[in-house]
Amino acid sequence: MLVTGIEILQDAHKNNYAVGAFNVNNMEIVQAIIEAAEETNSPVILQASQGGLKYAGVEYIAALGKLAAEKAKVPVALHLDHGTDFDQVMLCIRHGFSSVMIDGSRFELEGNIAITKKVIEVAHAVGVSVEAELGKIGGTEDDIVVDERDATFTDPKEAKKFVEETNVDYLAIAVGTAHGVYKGEPKLDFERIKTIKEMVNIPLVLHGSSGVPKEAIEKAVSLGINKINIDTDLRMAFSNAIKDFLKENPDNIDPRKILGPAKEAMKEVIKEKMELFGSAGRA
Ligand code: 13P
Repeated sequence: MLVTGIEILQDAHKNNYAVGAFNVNNMEIVQAIIEAAEETNSPVILQASQGGLKYAGVEYIAALGKLAAEKAKVPVALHLDHGTDFDQVMLCIRHGFSSVMIDGSRFELEGNIAITKKVIEVAHAVGVSVEAELGKIGGTEDDIVVDERDATFTDPKEAKKFVEETNVDYLAIAVGTAHGVYKGEPKLDFERIKTIKEMVNIPLVLHGSSGVPKEAIEKAVSLGINKINIDTDLRMAFSNAIKDFLKENPDNIDPRKILGPAKEAMKEVIKEKMELFGSAGRA
């Protein structure tokens, strides 16, 4: 069934586990995620980035996501990942998304608060939950010196002010992860997660979670992370399976034969994540 993001994340927040938010771009990916969720009895968030919407079309993603949610035996939210402007968010709400992210992290604090409030006024009026981002989640924090790291990490005091003024449902924080493939091992600022959680007391979101060691994910969840975004690990599973299949079957031209194993490989990765995040068995 299709539910709002906060319905799923409120339970995760109360009971100290995290729910995976997996990026979708086509039917096979949606099916892999839903099958994994049903097989592990896990709530799940299907999320589409603006790039994903541009690739597949918002109508296709919305139709696929809503159909999948309707048919699923587990709670499913359909979420916009990193919406950067008001119009994009409104478009997704109009197409039936049950959760949206307004990413105003490129603005200074007051600007971020202003755009987040504007989105929330409309979204909450129609029962859609909202994620915002505070601090900047970069792509290359690997050999960044501490000062610079602190400059982009989420400031706990700002987080408290941000949540109080916007009434946001869940907050993405910058604590040492980055989008994409890591060059070295990411170092998470666990103390910061703990402090922010104590100060805001709402579900927290970890972006750039592919490639983060299992122990670090477990610790982040124990300290208050409730939504974990995964894209890169799924892309790798999908495309490696396609490469392997075509290497062994270079003459095969049937898209079903090529994409079927890719879907299965992706599903296995998703099931492992659901067990790791603690959402398995929570549906
Ligand atoms: P990864 O690609 O690093 O898994 O990050 C995904 C993400 O955070 C999407 O918002």
